[in-house]
Amino acid sequence: MPLKFLLLLPISLILLTACPQKKTSQSFQSSIQSSQSRLDPHSFSRHDQVKVTHLELDLKVKFKHKILEGFAILNYQRLTPEVNQLVLDSRDLKIKRVEMVNNSKNNQLNWRMGETIEGLGTALVIDLPKDNSPIKIHYETMPQASGLQWLTPEQTSEKTQPFLFSQSQTIHARSWIPIQDTPSVRLTYDATIRVKNDVKALLSADNNDQKAIDGVYTFGMKQPIPAYLIAIAVGDLQMQQISKHVAIYAESSILEAAAYEFAVTENMISATEALYGPYRWGQYDLLILPPSFPFGGMENPKLSHITPTIIAGDRSLDSLIAHELAHSWSGNLVTNSLWKDAWLNEGFTSYIEARITEAVHGQDRMQMEATLVYQSLIDSMKDMSNDEQKLINPIASADPDDYFTSVTYDKGRFFLEWIEQQVGRPVFDQFLNQYFNHYAFKSIETDDFVNYLNQHLIKQHSDKVNMNQIDIWLNQPGMPDFFTPPKTNRFIKIDQQVNSWVNGQLTTEKIMSQNWTTQEWLHFLRALPGEMTIEQMEKLDATFGFTNRKNSEIAHDWLLISINNQYQTAYARLIDYLSSIGRVKLIKPLYQALMKNSDLHNFAMNVYLKSRPGYHNIAIKQIDEIVGYVKTE
Ligand code: BES
Ligand code: ZN
Repeated sequence: MPLKFLLLLPISLILLTACPQKKTSQSFQSSIQSSQSRLDPHSFSRHDQVKVTHLELDLKVKFKHKILEGFAILNYQRLTPEVNQLVLDSRDLKIKRVEMVNNSKNNQLNWRMGETIEGLGTALVIDLPKDNSPIKIHYETMPQASGLQWLTPEQTSEKTQPFLFSQSQTIHARSWIPIQDTPSVRLTYDATIRVKNDVKALLSADNNDQKAIDGVYTFGMKQPIPAYLIAIAVGDLQMQQISKHVAIYAESSILEAAAYEFAVTENMISATEALYGPYRWGQYDLLILPPSFPFGGMENPKLSHITPTIIAGDRSLDSLIAHELAHSWSGNLVTNSLWKDAWLNEGFTSYIEARITEAVHGQDRMQMEATLVYQSLIDSMKDMSNDEQKLINPIASADPDDYFTSVTYDKGRFFLEWIEQQVGRPVFDQFLNQYFNHYAFKSIETDDFVNYLNQHLIKQHSDKVNMNQIDIWLNQPGMPDFFTPPKTNRFIKIDQQVNSWVNGQLTTEKIMSQNWTTQEWLHFLRALPGEMTIEQMEKLDATFGFTNRKNSEIAHDWLLISINNQYQTAYARLIDYLSSIGRVKLIKPLYQALMKNSDLHNFAMNVYLKSRPGYHNIAIKQIDEIVGYVKTE
């Protein structure tokens, strides 16, 4: 699309529109001070009193109105006999009526919407029946449900059927199910999903190849899971079983490419089982979502949700599959009970991801990825406060997503890798295997891990590692000075070439890039000087064809450099990239870079206006802020 089309809308029109009226609701900070009673600051649930144990969902998918409509039956356990109320989380749910499930005639139950807190939604308080019979909540979702994205047929690759997918982590399950939406509570579930169009429904449960002719799909999830792992997807989906435990679900045009790209998934499962014990979820399927999916991947049990942007054609970005698979142990089996302990999920998972990558793709690839990740960790810590750099994050955040930073993932990972190096791999592997077994299907806090670590590892190996060092990792900012950063000869060689190129001793054509992998290209791009001349940019592009690279990560890095150096030749690709991809990790830095240069503000706003309708709520929330978009409503 020619640039001028995007420049038509004046930025002032958008910026001057009035701020929407906020509903009266308590802010998170004031609620945290006033309410001592919430066990999980991000949930209204009182699971110490009454705990939901099983959910039976029955939902109609109404694409035309962008709503789910039906009921949820909840089974529960009363832990405090004198308590007669069940408190659930909800956000933007239309509750119609609540009943008890038994044979009595008057089976209506009293209920009311309780406290509303900005960002958390509204408590749903239900008077429980004396006999503890299950309760049935009739409800429907709203089109703006934060956990659901509704796509029109035009927004899919096949363009014939609409598409729906959920993203419940961290606290969006409550926008499509009335539930105790806290990772401290686990439940099993059964579900019936009713669809009209010629589409297939999938859940984070047992799926199969059957296409229901009557549009009624039934599912069961027998392992207890937290609410954030409940997921749904509905669309024109085809399935291909690629190995014993792995099937791919995708729109037909990408099914084959996905089957090739993710071919080593079965080996990843075997490698992880060899380290940490059996995969406890039966099937491990991959659902390839449309490109608007805001994340790289989401570890929905039995069925990871995956961005199509990692289909590179050469399996070079499949560590993301290793990551989502690893969550089947770290996260889905042993879960952080509070979001502030997210590192127990993500740090462990990033560590295991690296172990899986090493097992299936070799040490070189793992080491290159480690070095790239370390570099970004150091860079991002430069913009963080001291507290934000601590693994045990002492900040009370209203938005639990704030607990997912590179510290959570990568400092967590390097911490575990460091312990491994101190005690030796066999000892640490054995320890982790035992840890997953011990806490299987439980939700824990950092203290639980630290005590277990002390009891079962540190005490036995006090000559090699001590609790003081552990404390430094957990409670000090930055990286400990006793940590040795990863490095790889493959990158050292690249650095040498970049230096010679910068000094004019090496021409662009002479750069030895013949056998570079994706990771080497990424390092090369990151090693280039921040400021380059247009001649240098043109030369690099002419020699290496960066502007037209299909690999989404390489294209991302090049587009970032192009923005920073105002290399306009790449802008058409940039527009295409930003309007066809909704993965936050890939688009957010590009918008941020555009907004750093006031000459590019109009460009940013115009490409955003064009792309925003296709983005997910999660992306919209972040990018609105970056480009200064004000909603008119
Ligand atoms: N569980 C996360 C995704 C997530 C995090 C969703 C926080 C909502 C809130 C998933 O496992 C993840 O970490 N995805 C990464 C993959 C990467 C680190 C390999 C992503 O999407 O980029
Ligand atoms: Zn993860």
